[in-house]
Amino acid sequence: MSLKDKTKWDKKYQNKPQLLEFRDASAKLIDALKNIPKGDALDLACGTGRNALYLAQNGFEVDALDIAQVALNTLTQDAQRLDVANLIHAKLTDLDNYTIKKQYDLIVMCNFLDRALLQKTKNSLNSGGFYFVETYMLDASNEKENSDKNNLLEKKELQKIFDDFEIVYYDEFDNEKHEIYSMKKQVILAKKLLP
Ligand SMILES: C[S@@+](CC[C@H](N)C(=O)[O-])C[C@H]1O[C@@H](n2cnc3c(N)ncnc32)[C@H](O)[C@@H]1O
Repeated sequence: MSLKDKTKWDKKYQNKPQLLEFRDASAKLIDALKNIPKGDALDLACGTGRNALYLAQNGFEVDALDIAQVALNTLTQDAQRLDVANLIHAKLTDLDNYTIKKQYDLIVMCNFLDRALLQKTKNSLNSGGFYFVETYMLDASNEKENSDKNNLLEKKELQKIFDDFEIVYYDEFDNEKHEIYSMKKQVILAKKLLP
């Protein structure tokens, strides 16, 4: 595990307690779930688990992975409070060095970007399974100018990454009002083709 990343993210959550407050799941994910049958789901870089919790509340069994123990502790408490602890498996994981051992019906990556991981985890989806990605993109209107460009998607990049999938939904949109900076985001719901 990269101790530097772990320390950085744990500190970030500890120093900004508002990041640990309960948040609604992504509105785009809530919408996408109308098209997705319940099954086994993987939430990559889940944070405090707003999406993992929503998935579990809607009948998915969820593996929720993150490098920040502080965030996972909040997720575990919320899972108990919402009575879905039996459906969520939260695991401290460095996704830089992670090998997935299971197949999933749905994989979620939200507000996090690891292009290599996106490519690698396509193989961990069952045929007919869904990949949901929503994260920030490069745009002249972004308020946070000092973002690491590597962490921002190029225009239409998710369409290119998933050109071997059926694209069920794609959008470029302004992020939610509760976020600290106004940023452009990109979202995709892509379905893995049957062999
Ligand atoms: C902006 S938060 C997004 C959390 C959640 N997906 C959401 O949409 O609310 C980014 C998350 O990525 C996690 N993260 C960063 N690097 C990671 C790594 N190498 N392995 C696992 N998680 C990582 C951080 O701990 C943090 O919780």
